[in-house]
Amino acid sequence: MIKRPIIIDTDPGVDDTIRIMLANSHPELDIRAITPVTGNVQYALTSRNALFLREYLGIDCKVADGSNTPLFIENKDAGDIHGTGGMGGYAVPVPKRDFDGYAWDIIKDEAEKANGELEIITLGPLTNIAVTLLRYPEIKPLIKRIVCMAGSATIGNMNPYAEFNVWIDPEAADIVFTSGIPVVMCGLDGNDYAGITIPDLLHYIEKAKGTSVEDLFTHIFTHWVHRREAAHAEDKIQVINDAITMAYFITSDMGKTEKYNVRVETKGELTAGWTIVDRYNRNKQEPNIEVLTWSDRELFKKMLDDMLDYYRK
Ligand code: BDR
Ligand code: CA
Repeated sequence: MIKRPIIIDTDPGVDDTIRIMLANSHPELDIRAITPVTGNVQYALTSRNALFLREYLGIDCKVADGSNTPLFIENKDAGDIHGTGGMGGYAVPVPKRDFDGYAWDIIKDEAEKANGELEIITLGPLTNIAVTLLRYPEIKPLIKRIVCMAGSATIGNMNPYAEFNVWIDPEAADIVFTSGIPVVMCGLDGNDYAGITIPDLLHYIEKAKGTSVEDLFTHIFTHWVHRREAAHAEDKIQVINDAITMAYFITSDMGKTEKYNVRVETKGELTAGWTIVDRYNRNKQEPNIEVLTWSDRELFKKMLDDMLDYYRK
């Protein structure tokens, strides 16, 4: 089997955790490294959770020491959504193994080793990738593509326009989007199509029984059931953004994309973090980003089922 060398850049985070579980259940993916970044919760927790997930899932890969703050602005987080410790309150044991180096150095080394085949999937703010590109611009041609859970072509979740991962570090996102490396932006609106219902969540909790990931998986899915039950009627659907992006990364059958010029509003007083998707090319700029415009709910649900079958073996 020809394996795809990949790096997972992430801020775990509950949906990041499910995405790493999903990646690990696909033997065709050669996870070279997990590079944590500050985001959903403060860096001390995202990095500890990344170290823990390597051990919990038995992944043979490096875990890097990444960015503990955005490039130029103060740090924020979304701890209220991800629960205590960023894992929905799961009691994360102290990891035994430490970091294997800094994120930017490991990304550079892996890009050189993979000889043009390295793919990066980002599930958090783009700070680590921006630092890498600023520090080692010569590796840009060695990165095959970057698939990002980032942005939105319509509405945001942090202000009317901005999505969380871009809002945390807009300058970093703009550096990556304008780098010339092929980038796919799996934003909130594209992912929304693959949102799942409370009965779906309950189905997976039932199915996880007896698998090797039962305790952590059940903990996270139960956290979502409680959040969705408490939500307003129009907000009962759980969109597992990071896992949907991972599913698209695994197979492009998961969605449809259109190529547009996308820039990030870095300074706007009311709109910082807005991903400006120029659908009608009003700015007369070259399209630079593949934007996810639709995702396949049924295929996503099947991939979650298949993942749990994998962890039953
Ligand atoms: C993104 O923000 C985080 O809360 C999630 O992990 C996801 O990466 C969605 O806006
Ligand atoms: Ca995330």
